[in-house]
Amino acid sequence: MSSSLTGLEIAGKRVFLRCDLNVPLKDGVITDDGRIRASLPTIKFLLAGGASIVIGAHLGRPKGEAKPEFSLAPVAKRLSELLNTPVEFPAVSAGEAAKAKALTPGQVLLLENLRFNAAETSKDDKDRAVFAKELASMVDAYVGDGFGAVHRKHASVFDLPQLLPHAAGFLVDAEVEVLKQLTQNPQRPYGVVLGGAKVSDKIGVISNLLEKVDLLAIGGGMVFTFLAAQGKGIGSSLVETDLIPTVKEIIARAEAKGVSLHLPTDIVVAPKFAADAPATIVSVDAIPADQMGLDIGPDSAKEFASAIAGCKTVFWNGPMGVFEYSAFANGTKVIAEALTKVSGISVVGGGDSAAAVRALGFADSDFGYISTGGGAALEYLEGKELPGLQALGL
Ligand code: 3PG
Repeated sequence: MSSSLTGLEIAGKRVFLRCDLNVPLKDGVITDDGRIRASLPTIKFLLAGGASIVIGAHLGRPKGEAKPEFSLAPVAKRLSELLNTPVEFPAVSAGEAAKAKALTPGQVLLLENLRFNAAETSKDDKDRAVFAKELASMVDAYVGDGFGAVHRKHASVFDLPQLLPHAAGFLVDAEVEVLKQLTQNPQRPYGVVLGGAKVSDKIGVISNLLEKVDLLAIGGGMVFTFLAAQGKGIGSSLVETDLIPTVKEIIARAEAKGVSLHLPTDIVVAPKFAADAPATIVSVDAIPADQMGLDIGPDSAKEFASAIAGCKTVFWNGPMGVFEYSAFANGTKVIAEALTKVSGISVVGGGDSAAAVRALGFADSDFGYISTGGGAALEYLEGKELPGLQALGL
């Protein structure tokens, strides 16, 4: 059974708080602090309740090595600014345990990237158990609030909560609440828009969603595997040739189930993947052999947007094109705008999609809900059991 955060004894206790602080960085500067902000309500609640907090988190995939470019140092600084409270960040991991044990109520300490220790992500249960024990020895209780990492069977996500009195944090509670709305009885029509580079990342979720949705719109790099499956020439666009048979099956299943499958009819192409590459709009039936598709075209974006407008529930994950370059940002922008106008519930799923809408100038409040977890939200929608939720009894 999970206990709620409000039921967990925290006054005078040292609490281990697992957050997802895996923020995008460019040259050491945080480009979107959404995940840090999303962690604040639980942190403030714990501090107000008289706890001291040892925050555990990861950044990137350093694969068990202490690589400076994956240090959480910039996150410690930003967190301290947002909390207006000093955040201890012991540079040497050997000193972390002692510092954690010395915390007094109201103090916050952020541990260095947990993935610097190979045991955090180890597939060997025994390795993870040893690391979890070490972390458990620093604290009295555990709060799981790193929604973006709950699909990982990692020591701090799965093993550690089982060793301590535990509860889910407010972010995890809120995310699960929204995902439940999407999976158990969504208001119809229910539309899902998927983008992003790889179809291989989304096959599971597409397959499961075909049983549940009324409308599925596909854009992003992954759409070229769909177009190739329809026998179209895709030039030098991204493609996962080995998945063409699977995608053909998906297209056939969508038809059999009466799911309205929307694929683009026009594409923005360019000779190379670059910000200054000259962009041209072409029909999906006329993609030049020496060009690659970098965004859905304006007609397709309009068509997707009007399809979304008729939905009462919409989930969107993955940009429609290379939104980081203005010449290829239109598709993502139009879809984001369409989501802001949905009369029912609109959910933007995922770290990348969340960062995209913020980078394009939208406010969080423009959407029904912005999930902090891309992979985690997709795996939930895929119907998988998520280790981090399982460990919290959710
Ligand atoms: C994410 O960015 O989706 C989460 O922080 C999980 O990161 P991971 O995919 O490296 O486990």
